[in-house]
Amino acid sequence: MQAFTYHRKGIPFFHQKTALEFQQDIYERYHEMVVRQSALHTADELWGRYPFQPIFDFAEKHYPKATAINILEIGCGVGRWIATLAKHYPKSTCWGIDYSYQMLKCANGFWVEGQENSVDLTDKGLDQQSQKGEELNNLKFGLAKAEKLPFEENSQHLVVNSFLLDRLDDPIKGLEEMYRVLKPAGKLIVISPLNFKKAAHWKMYYPASQFSTILEEIGFEILDWKEEVIVDEPLDGHGNLVRWKCLGFVVEK
Ligand SMILES: C[S@@+](CC[C@H](N)C(=O)[O-])C[C@H]1O[C@@H](n2cnc3c(N)ncnc32)[C@H](O)[C@@H]1O
Repeated sequence: MQAFTYHRKGIPFFHQKTALEFQQDIYERYHEMVVRQSALHTADELWGRYPFQPIFDFAEKHYPKATAINILEIGCGVGRWIATLAKHYPKSTCWGIDYSYQMLKCANGFWVEGQENSVDLTDKGLDQQSQKGEELNNLKFGLAKAEKLPFEENSQHLVVNSFLLDRLDDPIKGLEEMYRVLKPAGKLIVISPLNFKKAAHWKMYYPASQFSTILEEIGFEILDWKEEVIVDEPLDGHGNLVRWKCLGFVVEK
């Protein structure tokens, strides 16, 4: 694994993030993004269910059978998926990588250091909630870019990511990195709402079938493909929501 430049509150930085990069990154806006992500991914009681469960339902049937494996989530946000995998595979080594220090600080505090997490969405008509953290000893979090992962070639058995691919400046570079770090026959599971932010990306990567060609050109074999993994993201106490129509795919190196 690549050496990190420095640590901040227990989070290794594999990318030297500048002050300008911090300033320009919407995911560093603590209250807007991190509180919302913590509410969605850790405060299931608020919604009476885990809103992102459809992702797990799509992915679970493809999880490897082996137990002592290396697992990587990229764009892990507050870490729910990689923490779930760390619990599913207690003998595994799990890493959650993200480009936002604020997301990682929240993830590490809650899943690794056992800190309580409080979310206040009373301005959305919801009760205030506190969740007790966990102390998972097979899980680590680090700051890096998806386009330059701090892992050796052929080192990971399973790589996952959700709601990341359409955020990347260069999705092909991201997929090539995922391919590079996977072991032969390692699996990549991706969920993306294809909610691109740039006209050029819509042109290059839409419709979803464009991705199947790109994946095959990189060298992946497609194992599963579903163009309607529906994720309903709740917005408030009245039950308003955003419906995300996601592409889900599972590929093998
Ligand atoms: C929409 S959030 C999704 C978080 C979580 N995976 C989920 O499904 O809710 C996107 C996440 O990707 C991270 N991210 C954006 N660009 C990234 C990049 N180039 N490399 C690594 N992480 C990135 C953001 O910091 C943020 O935590």
